[in-house]
Amino acid sequence: MGTEMKKIVINGGLPLYGDISVSGMKNAALPIIFASILTKDKCVIENLPEVSDVTLSLEILHSMGATVKMLNRNTVEVDTTHFVGGSSPYELVSKLRGSTYLLGAELGRFGEARVGFSGGCDFGTRPIDQHKKGFEALGAVMTIENGCNHIVTGPGGLCGASIYFDIASVGATINVILAAVMTPGRTTIDNAAREPHIVDLANFLNMCGARISGAGTSFIKIQGVERLHGCNYTIIPDMIEAGTYMAAAAAAGGRVTVRGIIPKHMETVTAKLLEMGVEVDECDDSIVVSRTSPLQHANIKTYFYPGFPTDMHPQFSALLAMASGTSTVTEGVFENRFRYVDELKKMNADISVDGRTATIVGPAHLTGAPVKAVDLRGGAALVIAGLAAKGKTEICNVEYIERGYDNIVGKLRGIGADISLVDIPDAVVEKAN
Ligand code: UD1
Repeated sequence: MGTEMKKIVINGGLPLYGDISVSGMKNAALPIIFASILTKDKCVIENLPEVSDVTLSLEILHSMGATVKMLNRNTVEVDTTHFVGGSSPYELVSKLRGSTYLLGAELGRFGEARVGFSGGCDFGTRPIDQHKKGFEALGAVMTIENGCNHIVTGPGGLCGASIYFDIASVGATINVILAAVMTPGRTTIDNAAREPHIVDLANFLNMCGARISGAGTSFIKIQGVERLHGCNYTIIPDMIEAGTYMAAAAAAGGRVTVRGIIPKHMETVTAKLLEMGVEVDECDDSIVVSRTSPLQHANIKTYFYPGFPTDMHPQFSALLAMASGTSTVTEGVFENRFRYVDELKKMNADISVDGRTATIVGPAHLTGAPVKAVDLRGGAALVIAGLAAKGKTEICNVEYIERGYDNIVGKLRGIGADISLVDIPDAVVEKAN
């Protein structure tokens, strides 16, 4: 029991200097991995981040009959020729949110899907009514059966349709694209999500022979094609990972070059850092972040892209805790994303939450503490706080952080952080349980 348990230990207070490289985007990798089901062919996907959500997604495909071969640490060859629809293992799909993409991909390939409820971070209820609305507009019928979402093609078959989302959901946009690419006729999605990973998915599918246009805008058009074929594709850089390291540099001070990014994707994060008095210089595919003066307070509202990303919310709360004056962070995407707040408070942050808004009074002199990651980005916020805090911070539940950050400990060590991944002895884990 518990032999795998680890914690991150940080001795904070050291400024960060040097270069840090960004991996491929997790939230683009997941839909692209599941989209490979539609090709019934071999796809080579490059620049995959080495994170547990990606590993799990590949395990799901493998367990359903796909051949999955790692060509190197960041490149996988997936052959879905012998993929078997309807056979997803609940113990794997229930561990991540991205497994909902099986619904659209299996519906598109087999005209039917049966998938257990997906997992993912807990930010309050995460309904899939917009996914259902899209599938049903295409002619499918979706029900809940024996603890699974079951979708089947209705009596009239699947046919292109006009869909208007009530909310610009990333997951629903991806799922409808997956279901529609091989559905006869023309499908349009209005009020579609505009996130860069939607564009990446569309680029991947178009390289496989799909006809999708308008991705990256709120109106996407899809002309159904009869079949897709495999391709070689490189995933875009992870803007949330990049933003996290930019926030870390701003928190700890020093001068850090974040490499391998698309600066356009970083605009909202960059603007907020500038507002807080951080120096940010943009180059072609890197950004230099340095801080020499105290941080200034700021107000943030998270929103759908190109708004400030909800996935950068907790990291910025950690940063704002150190800024002078009163700041607010208002969550505009998820109803409850504040579970990290209690942990930051243990490190001396002064944060109170009312409804969807956190009020942060600074400057707090953060002090190291034993804390626990409560979700992926909440965990990243603790790392940022730990880097800037005086003394030792020990973060448990590291598995949340490993879902979305490729080698976070090694990368931060590379820019001078005193951070390590340490085994928690079995005895301690059992006692804690
Ligand atoms: C994805 C990302 C997640 C990110 C989020 C917003 C993945 C695996 N996860 O999650 O990291 O934080 O986008 O950028 O890519 N909603 C509905 N009905 C629906 C679908 C969504 O009401 O059918 C609501 C959700 O409750 C939420 C909002 O829409 O309030 C946005 O959700 P959505 O964009 O779908 O996020 P995910 O795809 O779950």
